[in-house]
Amino acid sequence: MSKTVTITDNASGKSIECQVMEGTHGHPVVDTRALSKELGMFTFDPAFVTTASCESAITFIDGEKGILLHRGYPIDQLAENSSYLEVCYLLINGELPTKTEMDSFVFSIGRLSLLHEGLLNFFNGFRHDAHPMAMLAGVVAGMSSHYHEEMDIYNPEHRNMCAIRLLGKMPTIAAKSFRYLLGRPYVYPRHDLGYVENFFNMMFHLPNREMAMNPTAVKALEIMLILHADHEQNASTSTVRLAGSSQANPYACIAAGITTLWGPAHGGANEAVINMLQEIGDVKNIGPYIDRVKDKNNPTRLMGFGHRVYKNFDPRAKIIRGVCHQLLGELDATGDQQPMFEIAMELERIALEDQYFIERKLYPNVDFYSGIILSALGIPTNMFTVMFAVARTAGWIAQWKEMMEDPSLKIGRPRQLYVGAAKRDYVAMDQR
Ligand code: SDX
Repeated sequence: MSKTVTITDNASGKSIECQVMEGTHGHPVVDTRALSKELGMFTFDPAFVTTASCESAITFIDGEKGILLHRGYPIDQLAENSSYLEVCYLLINGELPTKTEMDSFVFSIGRLSLLHEGLLNFFNGFRHDAHPMAMLAGVVAGMSSHYHEEMDIYNPEHRNMCAIRLLGKMPTIAAKSFRYLLGRPYVYPRHDLGYVENFFNMMFHLPNREMAMNPTAVKALEIMLILHADHEQNASTSTVRLAGSSQANPYACIAAGITTLWGPAHGGANEAVINMLQEIGDVKNIGPYIDRVKDKNNPTRLMGFGHRVYKNFDPRAKIIRGVCHQLLGELDATGDQQPMFEIAMELERIALEDQYFIERKLYPNVDFYSGIILSALGIPTNMFTVMFAVARTAGWIAQWKEMMEDPSLKIGRPRQLYVGAAKRDYVAMDQR
């Protein structure tokens, strides 16, 4: 017998039986769709803290146990054994690829990593000091003006082409943004390099000198991309789904995801963490900073701490912390990053012992360390969220594709509780 939950309106005495739906893992959900028709009421859940917006088979998070699965595979096993493009294939297609499938997938992505030369002109319209997230959002949205002949969202082949095109071009657009800001020449993608090596080459190659590829740096960025690939219905992914539900083209949907990710409460946190560590500047300033964070009248938050879902630890933070230690040990010869890392370690230690953070279950999230790694890789702070967007493109595409394949797809349209003025008549200007 299927489980139900009874909702009773005590005023009218009327009740409805709501079906309880069970998934593979995690909380069951109560189907409240009959509520408005049967009881004339809506549910109320600002910020969707306890609302399941869809059924999905892509990613599962257990916030209490610190579990993150992609198509059932634990994130630590993927970080240990997989590659970013293999995780992309898994997220988008549902299964790990065979060698033939992987070779074809990698070849297709490499073949589509070039940008239409017309798209390169888009960059010239940006100011020399524009934020690269503005360029990423603008150029990705502009892709819909270049590839519209393959944008029938109900054609599986076109959906697949859009996925491959975006995975191929996101690193190119990201690197081009970086080069534009520095006034450096554009470096064309190379089909003979791996996905991460090619990105590093497009970012850092200079015409007047050879560029050595550091395997530790490549591995660190590969893991970073894997850890940021997808994360259930987070703010930017929910935005992509909502945009897609209106039948907007996939490039417009991904551009919407990019703009949502930009916020410091979401993907902009890695940039905000570094700015915070630089503002703290010295271990002795940590105490006063934390006092500001705890002050109710002060909007300062401890960036890189807290998470809507993880309430014990972010499994990605555990993995990335180790990568951080190893990378700084092997790479940071100049020691530039060490002071910042030491402040981060001391901040983490103090915060984890402080009742304010313990009571609120605030632990370091993935962004607390990712900024330090990206800094050590020579990637400037304003490019951190761009890196997050490059990685999350896989998740956005996978979630958009899953939604488009859902035969019950409807346009998303939340309701509200209206608390404005009661109905009233217009008053002529000379009567006011
Ligand atoms: C990402 O959703 C995802 O999956 C996101 C993400 C992904 O992969 O897509 O994981 C990526 O966005 C990670 C989070 C990165 N953001 C930050 O690091 C910014 C700092 N963190 C906070 O802004 C905050 O923790 C959020 C936004 C992440 C979560 O906020 P919630 O769940 O809405 O928590 P809340 O605002 O209801 O806060 C609960 C309490 C409040 O105190 P009280 O009012 O109860 O006294 O905790 C406090 C908050 O003031 N609090 C913090 C805090 N985060 C919450 N206090 C100080 N510092 C913080 N960072």
